[in-house]
Amino acid sequence: MKSNVNRRTWLKQSAFAASSVMAGMAFSNELLAKPAFGMKPLSGKPSLLENYFIPLQDRASLKARLLANENPWGPSKKAVAAIAESASKGNRYVYNSSMKMVEVLATKEGVAKDNILLAAGSTDLLEKTAFALCMKGGNVISADPSYMSLVKTAKAIGATWKNIPLKADYSHDLDAMEKAIDAETKLIYVCNPNNPTGTITPIADLKAFCKRVSSKCPVFVDEAYLELMDDGGLQTTAGLITEGHDIIVCRTFSKIHGMAGLRVGYMIAKPERIKTITQLVRTEMGMSVTSIEGALASLSDVEFQTFTRTNNKINRDYTFEELKKAGLNPIPSYTNFILFPIPMPTKELLSKMMEKSVGIRGFEINGKQYGRVSIGTMDEMKLFATSLNSIIS
Ligand SMILES: Cc1ncc(COP(=O)(O)O)c(C=O)c1O
Repeated sequence: MKSNVNRRTWLKQSAFAASSVMAGMAFSNELLAKPAFGMKPLSGKPSLLENYFIPLQDRASLKARLLANENPWGPSKKAVAAIAESASKGNRYVYNSSMKMVEVLATKEGVAKDNILLAAGSTDLLEKTAFALCMKGGNVISADPSYMSLVKTAKAIGATWKNIPLKADYSHDLDAMEKAIDAETKLIYVCNPNNPTGTITPIADLKAFCKRVSSKCPVFVDEAYLELMDDGGLQTTAGLITEGHDIIVCRTFSKIHGMAGLRVGYMIAKPERIKTITQLVRTEMGMSVTSIEGALASLSDVEFQTFTRTNNKINRDYTFEELKKAGLNPIPSYTNFILFPIPMPTKELLSKMMEKSVGIRGFEINGKQYGRVSIGTMDEMKLFATSLNSIIS
């Protein structure tokens, strides 16, 4: 082992966390009471510190680009054809295409057209929701660690963050989140499945939570990775919106549709929530006719979505087994990435992987080091596994 960490001691220590996850349903109540990453709640200080980024100029030449949870197979050929064909409509603003897209999405989601808001990716919606709801301060509640886009913007404009540690099974601690609500809470953010852990919060629990708390403050459910799950996205909270609950659901074309660079996302919410945002900003103005037409074509390309889901699972299972064989105790994932503890500083691992032309992400979570690998093609995952093994063995 080329790091100064004693690998055997480290493996023993980290085995505890992963074996509890592997035990699946067999969590004892005592174990569940403990936070997943051993954090204290409501510290206000993020436990998740992303401490090493691969310089942008180095990413383009990677042999395995496994750092941004992109879809290696996309976009669908049908999307590419629609994009090419619609380029000649580029002299006009997007309205004809966007009206069509809203209609298609409303039908798909079983909601009215005024429940849908389009944007150039879900990042735009996360940030603009933060602007719309947190302009006068207040607080936002979310899990820790979780995806930080909305929280970062909310904090930048003066809101505070109530961080609630994930439970030992890496699900959201919904009871603690509910208890954290006060008169100043503007929003609860739930990422399901969660990034960077790749884990889920059971949908029945999440729905019950949403029903209970949304009378006090809106619940924003980020479902970026939902459609990659085996059931293809059935575990959504979107149905609660038509029942009148104040839930804001966000989806993206960056993952299952493989369109991260084309920038398309949408929100499903109560019309009054959408109005709060559109009174301030026009999210559609960040979109292009070509991207919308590509997204429409991709929506009808069910074959491509199934291909992505199936191959993502095959390659994820392979990677999970390789990580286990390497003694790294990966966290079981429902997404297109896997988080795993590492026996060396993340910066060191990431730069050694870079030397082998493999790009992954690294996190420091509550003082512990983790790698996060996105699921790519089988060739990329094999290169990842051999490179990793050569570094840690
Ligand atoms: C949980 C989550 N939400 C939103 C996004 C942003 O997606 P988009 O490309 O639609 O902006 C990501 C991107 O990785 C994500 O992980």
